[in-house]
Amino acid sequence: MSKAAVMVGQNQPLVIREDIEVEAPHANEVKVRMGASGVCHSDLSMLNGTMFAMPPIVLGHEGAGVVEEIGEGVTTVKVGDHVVISWVPQCGTCFFCERDQGYLCENAMAALASGGLLDGTPRMTSDGKPLMQMAASGTFSEVSIVPESGVVKFDDDVDMRVAALIGCGVLTGTGAAMNTANIRKGDTIAVIGCGGVGLNVIQGARIAGAGEIIAIDMNETKLQMAKEFGATASVNAAQGDPVAQVMEMTAGRGADVAFEVIGLGSTIEQTIGMTRRGGQSILVGVPKMDVMVTLPAFLGLVLSEKTIKGCWYGSSNVQKDVPKLVKLYKSGELKLDELISRTIALEEVNEAFDAMETGEVARSVIKY
Ligand code: APR
Ligand code: ZN
Ligand code: ZN
Repeated sequence: MSKAAVMVGQNQPLVIREDIEVEAPHANEVKVRMGASGVCHSDLSMLNGTMFAMPPIVLGHEGAGVVEEIGEGVTTVKVGDHVVISWVPQCGTCFFCERDQGYLCENAMAALASGGLLDGTPRMTSDGKPLMQMAASGTFSEVSIVPESGVVKFDDDVDMRVAALIGCGVLTGTGAAMNTANIRKGDTIAVIGCGGVGLNVIQGARIAGAGEIIAIDMNETKLQMAKEFGATASVNAAQGDPVAQVMEMTAGRGADVAFEVIGLGSTIEQTIGMTRRGGQSILVGVPKMDVMVTLPAFLGLVLSEKTIKGCWYGSSNVQKDVPKLVKLYKSGELKLDELISRTIALEEVNEAFDAMETGEVARSVIKY
């Protein structure tokens, strides 16, 4: 038996259950003993109803651990390997995977929607009843079963907490800048929302060669952190219209590339509004299902020729991008230790949600 933090109902504190039974991995699945798990905004989004959930469900999707057992047919990892969890288990053979868009994998999407693994069923029970697994993973658990395509091996000398963050916030944020967007040398970038993901957009943009990087948030602590991650200017959105402020800083033109990293209709409109003619608006934050955006079709789109692009999982090819990010981390270019504001125990996960809502932390990371 092992321990996990379980969502039992919308907006109810997660419950620590110590009676979790985890099955042996089925074919093409691996059992992972978690080393660490980040607490990401999407976990909170599932708890508060922004994203659809099927309780009882083990939350957590930003994790890393050690392979403890492998199912039949598993060839890419072996027992003892250190692995990052990829919450988009990219099948490699569907329409999207064949077109190098594995982050849109249709089998992964079906698993995500089901609350189970690739066959739609979970591998954990508590009190004899099945527990669903968020994002085909469920990393708020000492032990989890995930698809083989949902793990990526990483070097043993990298801290589990750092590796865990790579699995979601870092892949998503840096990927938005390095994969989804097309940043040219010297480009002016604007980033609305400088939390765990936004800070990674900022450092991804810096690595991609951006010139000015304007960080936008309502929280001064986050704006301060943004500077450490590469922002060259900041705008406090609580002190006046951020679009007007960015326009003023860019000779009235707007940013070459603007990113939304919160998931609100209002900030999505601001992001598009502060993008220059011919520029790119990249939408990273996950909005509530019913959020609609209204745009002036002629002036805002046709005449201004803006590209508006969604961004899912940083358009990442996890098998290539995880090793690339580890290398950038080791060379000192990618700041990952600095993202860890707090290291906590699984039992403190509810406090981590509070800290996220008050904006005190970039990331709280559970260490098992
Ligand atoms: N204007 C400016 N900044 C805002 C606003 C606003 N109206 N509302 C919130 N913020 C800032 C917060 O102060 C915080 O710094 O947005 C940031 C959000 O950061 P986190 O809560 O740490 O969220 P994060 O984990 O970075 O995720 C951001 O990306 O992957 C998605 O699901 C995730 O939608 C979420 C988004
Ligand atoms: Zn996440
Ligand atoms: Zn696929």
